[in-house]
Amino acid sequence: MTPVRTAILVSGRGSNMVSLLEAARDDSAFPAAFSLVVSNRPGVLALERAAAFGVPTDVIDHKAFADRESFDRALSARLEAAGIELICLAGFMRLLTPWLVEHWRDRMLNIHPAILPAFKGLHTHERALEAGVKLHGCTVHLVRSEMDAGPIIAQAAVPVLSGDTPDSLGARVLGAEHRLYPHALRLWASGRATLEGERVFVDGEAGAAAALIAPGL
Ligand code: GAR
Repeated sequence: MTPVRTAILVSGRGSNMVSLLEAARDDSAFPAAFSLVVSNRPGVLALERAAAFGVPTDVIDHKAFADRESFDRALSARLEAAGIELICLAGFMRLLTPWLVEHWRDRMLNIHPAILPAFKGLHTHERALEAGVKLHGCTVHLVRSEMDAGPIIAQAAVPVLSGDTPDSLGARVLGAEHRLYPHALRLWASGRATLEGERVFVDGEAGAAAALIAPGL
């Protein structure tokens, strides 16, 4: 099977990006090929890290655009010029316009540091601790117009431990993210995961293959 030409969009340190690039490097049968990394911020660590993997990078600085949609259209045109078929958002800290989301409908994945639909938005680890949840985690989903919403491809759960701080809990979740994103992308890019209505089924089933419980613990 020809791997799906995939771009990763980043804004910062790029640790999830690295987990995807490593998965593709270490598995000759990985169903996605990373052809481009784009950052909306110049000079971020993710760009250096992508270059170290030999992946072409580009910066499209959102500050150079008058409004969100003109940025999104320029970004989309750049991706299409590179023959990109699938987008992975990996710490891409931009609100996306409905135009971009619809244009890439079912061809754009995001990772969010919480078990959606709980804790959409920012500061998820602080809010999880405040809420007293006993399990926290992360989600890979298809992107829809509403922020941090869309069909769930896979989720991972980790325990909240006594004495956790936002940083310690966040580090545990990040470890789970690094295992979950390659797993979810593998499912989606290979066609094992499919959409029925707004629910994702894996090998025709709604459950277990897409759940990682306390990965790495
Ligand atoms: C990750 O924790 C990711 O889940 C989160 O930003 C971090 C990026 O880290 N994304 C969001 O909050 C999106 N709503 P990374 O740059 O090291 O991958």
